[in-house]
Amino acid sequence: MPQYRICHSPRLSGEVEISTAKNAVLPILAAALLTQEEVILHQTPALTDVRHMLDILRSCGAETETEGKEARVRCVALTNPRNLGLLRTMRASVLILGPLAARNGECFLTMPGGCAIGQRPIDLHVKGLQKLGAKVEQEGGAVRVSGSLKGANVYLDFPSVGATENLIMAATLAQGVTRIENAAKEPEITDLCHFLTLMGARIAGAGTANIIIEGVERLHGAEYTPIPDRIEAGTLACAAALTEGSVLLERARTGHMRALLFKLAESGVIIQEDSRGLRLRGKARHPMEARTLSYPGFPTDMQAPLMVVATQTHGLSVILETIFENRYMHVVELNRMGAHIRVEGQLALVQGGHALNGAHVSATDLRAAAALMLAGLAAQGETVLTDPAGHLMRGYERLEEKLRALGADAVKVEEGSGRANP
Ligand code: UD1
Repeated sequence: MPQYRICHSPRLSGEVEISTAKNAVLPILAAALLTQEEVILHQTPALTDVRHMLDILRSCGAETETEGKEARVRCVALTNPRNLGLLRTMRASVLILGPLAARNGECFLTMPGGCAIGQRPIDLHVKGLQKLGAKVEQEGGAVRVSGSLKGANVYLDFPSVGATENLIMAATLAQGVTRIENAAKEPEITDLCHFLTLMGARIAGAGTANIIIEGVERLHGAEYTPIPDRIEAGTLACAAALTEGSVLLERARTGHMRALLFKLAESGVIIQEDSRGLRLRGKARHPMEARTLSYPGFPTDMQAPLMVVATQTHGLSVILETIFENRYMHVVELNRMGAHIRVEGQLALVQGGHALNGAHVSATDLRAAAALMLAGLAAQGETVLTDPAGHLMRGYERLEEKLRALGADAVKVEEGSGRANP
């Protein structure tokens, strides 16, 4: 099973390039199912989630080809996924629901269940498709969608990222106009809309809470480079904020990272944006307050890395997790390393200023894994991070190598692909 050894690294300095965003690539790959023509993606990150999504597309009848960082997908005849078991390997498999319903008018999928960070139901996806006229039957963890789709007004009770993406994709081929209100505004959704527009979709309002999609008869192939990963960039920014170094995150889009950058700046990190990306200098010193919210609020995916930074500031930081119900699993491991963190429901109180000590820790989910790697950089001595399910490789392109490029002492000591993971 994958294992990493991380040693105290008091100074990070240098330049590192940010990879393409996992959360942009996955929906865009799903969108490739909307056309019979070829889709070409550049700068595709080498992540197990991306590999799993390509497996899923093949299971739906697509031909895929990857060469270096280029991925090609062509789906002449779209079928229901032949290997339903593949869908359980990844939450984002739910993103094929919209394209299948739109192009085939019928599909039968097994849905991934809850996962470590929360239950993650799909009721908003289902309600939205029903509004578009689909008949949806759910039983025993499977969902059957049938019927042709017609444009409609959809109000999302919560701005779910996945539901917004699924409904946009479904609406591109529906007959008539669809309006999604209280849509999620994440940059990855805007990126998906840019890609769909290149395919011939008619979409207005991407990146706002009101998205209007005028259905078209067919979509065509497209060639695209998705956006850089704001969560990877944010994780490396948090690593930099743990040390006195000076780091350049090449390709980082600061406009996508405002909420985090404000927190780091308030805490004492010097932040500069330039044409090459994001520069950070100095260490976070002052405690902070952060409440996770939908974009442009503070991202839940950055909560665990920011918490590690908070442990090394002077004073009491307050973090409130409002998006997922069980996203504090890293706290037990951080406290074993010497942190003083108390969790009260959704609230985490982080008493900074206590030195961390290296320990054997275990990764429970993707962002927790990254946070524990960062904690290892700040801790005295050696930290051994075991990642039984291979979470890190799902969402970070060799995080340990990127940290090493900045002077950190972090290596992967054991290979292994990890278990299939929800
Ligand atoms: C996406 C991201 C993930 C990020 C999350 C929140 C991808 C591949 N993943 O996940 O990294 O942490 O956004 O920013 O882009 N919910 C419902 N019913 C639904 C759908 C969602 O109650 O039908 C709830 C979820 O349980 C959760 C909240 O809404 O509590 C947010 O989920 P959502 O925005 O859908 O996240 P994902 O798209 O799964």
